[in-house]
Amino acid sequence: MCGIIGYTGPLSAKEIILNGLTQLEYRGYDSAGIALCMESSYIRMLKKTGKVSNLKEASKQIKEVSHSGIGHTRWATHGCVSENNTHPHQAGRVTLVHNGIIENYHQLICQFGLEKKLKSETDSEVAAWILDSFYQGDPAEAIGRLLPLLEGSYSFCIMFEDCPGEIYAVRSVSPLVAAYTHSGALVASDLTALIPYSRQYFVLPEKHLLKLTAYSAKVYTFEGREIMPEIIEADWNMDAAMKHGFSHFMLKEIHEQPEALNQTILPRLTDGIPDFSQDGIPDSLLKNCTRIQIAACGTAMHAGMAARALIEPLVRIPVTVSIASEFRYEEPLIDKNTLVIIISQSGETIDTLAALRLAKNYGSPTLSVVNVKGSTIARESDYVLYTHAGPEIAVASTKAYSVQLAALYLLSCRLAYVKGRFNLDQAKGFTNKLLSSIPAMKEVIKCKNEIQAIGNEILSAADIFFIGRGLDYSFSLEGALKLKEISYIHAEAYAAGELKHGTIALISPGVPVVAIATQERILGKTLSNVKEVKARGAFVILITKEETEISPGLADVIFRIPQIEDRFTIFPIAAVLQLIAYFVSVGKGLDVDQPRNLAKSVTVE
Ligand code: F6R
Repeated sequence: MCGIIGYTGPLSAKEIILNGLTQLEYRGYDSAGIALCMESSYIRMLKKTGKVSNLKEASKQIKEVSHSGIGHTRWATHGCVSENNTHPHQAGRVTLVHNGIIENYHQLICQFGLEKKLKSETDSEVAAWILDSFYQGDPAEAIGRLLPLLEGSYSFCIMFEDCPGEIYAVRSVSPLVAAYTHSGALVASDLTALIPYSRQYFVLPEKHLLKLTAYSAKVYTFEGREIMPEIIEADWNMDAAMKHGFSHFMLKEIHEQPEALNQTILPRLTDGIPDFSQDGIPDSLLKNCTRIQIAACGTAMHAGMAARALIEPLVRIPVTVSIASEFRYEEPLIDKNTLVIIISQSGETIDTLAALRLAKNYGSPTLSVVNVKGSTIARESDYVLYTHAGPEIAVASTKAYSVQLAALYLLSCRLAYVKGRFNLDQAKGFTNKLLSSIPAMKEVIKCKNEIQAIGNEILSAADIFFIGRGLDYSFSLEGALKLKEISYIHAEAYAAGELKHGTIALISPGVPVVAIATQERILGKTLSNVKEVKARGAFVILITKEETEISPGLADVIFRIPQIEDRFTIFPIAAVLQLIAYFVSVGKGLDVDQPRNLAKSVTVE
């Protein structure tokens, strides 16, 4: 989604903003622009469609020095990808960048008679013109008048022509973080743009005004009272956001998984079993719940599907998994005895945040599994279980998914223990097996060449099917999503037994089917489904365990993961599927880390 950065201070604003935009590239975007307050006090704008590198190249023409400015990477929502629609937008004395969607922008155009003034098709420019019409020399007063008019979500970074060196920012839902450092004051839509300058930052509270000057970053209420935001210390540094010799962030992040899993699991073990007292999660929360509702989007939702497949048979309580964008508009059957688990890497996904808020309205206790410290979902949940994946830069989620699974497995184990489904030895046994799945994942990652060869077999496929049963079905969903997003191949996941109820009509000679068969209890059934697609000429890639007997001719390619108990195949299977998607994307020469149309942190509905 759109990325925002603002800077004011002694250094070159052009350099800092362009570097910040490069840091924000991973969020996904289709154009980028900057506005710089020049020494001669006029505001110079530059916009380019495509990559930030285009903007950087064009910015070489700007020779004059500037010490404050704002920048933006745009992910188109209102209006096509064009320089006109690229931010910043200028209206009279106001220049601004915007993240989010102003839902009532059309009504505002009519209300303020802006039809003839607008140069772009964006909702953002509408806000700029209204702000300019309100502005009479007091930025806080004008912004304070604008905000009640806006419906939707937004974060703005604003410069006023007659206030050189000052940057104002405000937000509702869409996140903004800020820092004051010896190198000046910064604001950005996420920490990656600030981290080269400061590990200490604060989250701008909603509907408060941030004023940056070269000497300060201050937050005010709209009544003019200064407030002191809580300073947060990032638990990672710039080093964690570098490629370190890997050709892509995605590949690096796949390799980082074993370490991220250890960091997520080990600090939470006491006497060999999961213990959340350091996270402030009381056993009573788990003991008292009679059902679980999980809400999340995309990959995070798939982690929830795996958790459901684990928890229901283990703990014997109902678990419902909902797509957050659906859940938020439902009338869910949840109450104070339902533990609502919200899963989000970024902690900012707007649908997931809305699902959390809905659950709170229903009086359900909420626990979020989040990777980004201090994110909105983390702050608004009753309880937080942080995953420790570090920054995930590739748009396609890999290590964040694994650590979500790890956190949910730990939670399931504690749940089983406090509900008396596990005694201490059983809980220890479960935890040990979870830990032993980490070296199994390392083994798989070492088989990169073998997996690349599998990827090469499907480079030219138009459609691919992923099938599996039980836990394997949840992996199939994630395998198909990963492949779709970075290879642009149409991929669909099916519960293996469901295929014959319609979709098998699509299996024609040569169509690849990735069959995941690690669940021994239902292995025979899954393999029968594999036979069904093989009989129709499918090109079968079978992923199974080391010791599973496979009759000759059943599959065209077999990839074997180490022999581990069914419930714990999660990490090695995740690695196989991620690497298949990765190598297909590489083989097709695509942009692995920034696939088209996608955004890392989805802050619009
Ligand atoms: C896929 C992917 C997305 C995210 C989804 C939720 O690789 O990254 O499907 O999982 O947008 O994002 P978070 O977890 O940040 O809420």
